[in-house]
This record gives sequence, C-alpha cells and structure tokens, in this order.
Amino acid sequence: MDYFRICFFCGIIKIMILSEKSYRKIIPVAGGKGGVGKSIFTVNLGLYLGRLGKRVILIDLDMGAANLHTCLGLKNTRPGLGNFVSNRELSLADIMYRTDYPNLFFIPGDVLAPGMADIVYNQKRNIISQMLKLEADYILLDLGAGSHFNVIDFFLVSNSGILVVTPQVPSLLNVYGFLKNLNFRFLQRALTGKKTVEECIRSHAREARPNTRFRMSRVLHEIEKLDRDSGRTARGYLKSLKPSLVVNMAFTPEDLKPVDNLRQLVRDGLNVDLACLGMVCADNEIDKAMKKLMPLALESPQSMAARQIERIAEKIFQSDNFPDMPLDFSEYKDSFELAAIEADNDWACMREPAATGGAEGRNPADMEAIIVAQQRKIQELQQTVRMLTLGAPKTGAG
Ligand SMILES: Nc1ncnc2c1ncn2[C@@H]1O[C@H](COP(=O)(O)OP(=O)(O)O)[C@@H](O)[C@H]1O
Ligand SMILES: [Mg+2]
Repeated sequence: MDYFRICFFCGIIKIMILSEKSYRKIIPVAGGKGGVGKSIFTVNLGLYLGRLGKRVILIDLDMGAANLHTCLGLKNTRPGLGNFVSNRELSLADIMYRTDYPNLFFIPGDVLAPGMADIVYNQKRNIISQMLKLEADYILLDLGAGSHFNVIDFFLVSNSGILVVTPQVPSLLNVYGFLKNLNFRFLQRALTGKKTVEECIRSHAREARPNTRFRMSRVLHEIEKLDRDSGRTARGYLKSLKPSLVVNMAFTPEDLKPVDNLRQLVRDGLNVDLACLGMVCADNEIDKAMKKLMPLALESPQSMAARQIERIAEKIFQSDNFPDMPLDFSEYKDSFELAAIEADNDWACMREPAATGGAEGRNPADMEAIIVAQQRKIQELQQTVRMLTLGAPKTGAG
C-alpha cells in the first residue's frame, strides 16, 4: 500500500499521516479565538461527511469548555475525555458512541468529569496514540480557544488542520499568533539534539514579541548557519504544514479581503502557505437551530450557511490527499480565488428574491437590522485594512 507521504514529529509522537483514500484523516479545528464558530462548523462538517458515506468521529477537545454535545443536540449523560484521563481502565473506544446521525460517532469532552484543562504530557500522548487506532475515515477534533501548547499539540497531530477565522481584527490577529506559536512549537519538537539549534529557536521564540517585524526566514537562515541539516529539516517541516482557513460569519464577499491580507502576512512572516476552504456567511438560522438544540444541517439545510458548510465538506470529500485540493489551476489561481468566486455567487443568490424570499420578503425591522449590521461591518473592515496594511500584526504570541 502506497500509504504515507508525510512523517513528522508532532512533538509527542511520531505520526504517519495516511494519505491513501483519505483513510483515517485527522482534521483538527482551531482558530485561536473563542466564539468564532469552531464547534458549530465542526459538528456540521461531521454531519455532512457522514452523509456522504464516510465514517466520522467527532472528538470534543475543548478542554474546560466542552460543548460539542450541545451543538449536536445531544444530552450530556455519557462519560467523556475527563473520565478517560482520570480512569486508566478506560480506552477511547470505550467512551466513543454512535450517534443517531448517519455514520457519525462521538467522543464527549470533560463535562461530566473535569480535569482536561490540567492534562499532562503522558495523558496527551495516550489520547493521541489511542486516537490513531480508531477506525474512521475522518476524525474531527474540536479544539479550544487560545494558542496554549495543549491546543497546538493536538493541532499538530496532522498537517490538515483547519483554522476558523472571522473577518474581524481580533480573530485575524489570533490566527497569526496561533500560527507563530505553532511554528516554534513544531521546530522545537522537530529539532532536538543539537544544543545550539535548540537555543537559537528558544531565543527567537522569546524575542518574537508584538511590534517586531518578525521573519521566520531569518530564523531558518540562522539555523542553517548553525547546522545545515537542521536548516534543511526545518524548511521541510514547515513546508509540510498546510493549514486551511474557513472564513466564518462573513457579511459580504469582500470579507475575504482582510483574510487574504492575513495570508500574505503569514506567507511573508511565517513561511506558511494558507489555503482557503471557503466562506460561511453570518446566518441567523444558526442561532435559531441552536435554540432548538438542533444542528444547522438538520434544522435548516437550505440556509446559506448550511449550504456553504456542505460545499466545504464536499471539497474535503473529493480531496483524496486533503489538505491538497484537486483544484483545476487552468480555472482558478488558487483556493482563495475559488472561494471568492463561490462567495460572489452565493451572495448574488441571496439577493435573488426567488431564492430566499429576498428583500421583498423581509419586514422593515429586519431590513433595518441588516443595514445597521452592514454599517458596523464596514467600520470593522476599514479598521482591519488599516491594521493589516500598517505592518506586522500586534500579537502577544511568541
Ligand atoms: N456563521 C455563523 N452565523 C451566525 N452565528 C454564528 C455563525 N457561526 C457561529 N455562530 C454563533 O457563534 C456562537 C459561537 O459559536 P461556537 O461554534 O460555539 O464558537 P467556538 O467553538 O469558536 O467558541 C454561537 O452562538 C453560534 O450560534
Ligand atoms: Mg467551541
């Protein structure tokens, strides 16, 4: 079996990511920031991949704030990861159960038995090694907010991580900070053994303060000067990282612009190439579904947000070697251009009265709310553009 392409240390364990036919593809979902829609997205992505006939396991790894069961519309009555870490007798397979949704399995978080927030190295290693034994096509990890090592180490279990970002400045800055920490964590774990190289990475990680014009290429250059092999390894490892973005809570197709600026900054500053899986609009149907404790994909499958998440699921489904996407480069320059075209079409459809009831179908109060929201959006966008064109983001990461 021609089975692995990438082989790297996630810092805890040597991982071989199987690429053939997406077999047991692990997709961690993070975003640096809380409240950007990671859990809603993960649940609905899982539902759609399950409907496409794939065996999917959702794991709630938001330590201390697990709520994936709520987004799934499930009662929180079963043991989860909190029980797993406090009871050596349990295996991950023991706490996993089949949901009523097609092909969808669930491993709850630490709601019934807290303790995941203080998880130690060996417990983390145990979760990862057992995760790699689970039978599935896709294992989706719903990660918590922040750039703590616990979040980053689970993100690095795979090179196929997804970052959910909103077009607002705080979210963009958090993603930048997350990726910067990710780079250093990755290199620190990958390049062990050479004291001078280790010290070089450590000192840069400390120095990478806000307001500095940080360049990962300088760090790589220094590593190379200290030890050529380590330099080559470092470049290879960073190249293997292929995080993708999902732009959530978008109000207009133009919301892709600040995210595209972020991509440039990440490419220039951090030597990481971000892809874009698509945009998901800000949609009231999500809150309506939440209030009914129902997943969006079931409660409102015709809503624009549901259709956009479904399209992202199809992209992943069709990519045998996800995160590499089978893009036709004669048609699109890259994944961002495809996302922009899709967004233009989506918003054009939304404006079509026949498609959704359109503006004529809305009452004046709704219209006023939309106008106020869009005015606020324009101000936020102006602020975002100002921030991103002023230079490196002011992030506390590093
Ligand atoms: N596309 C969207 N449109 C409107 N509201 C959204 C959207 N995505 C998420 N939300 C809302 O944002 C809130 C936070 O979502 P959640 O998935 O729990 O965030 P996170 O997991 O990143 O903390 C929820 O109340 C949800 O209803
Ligand atoms: Mg969450």
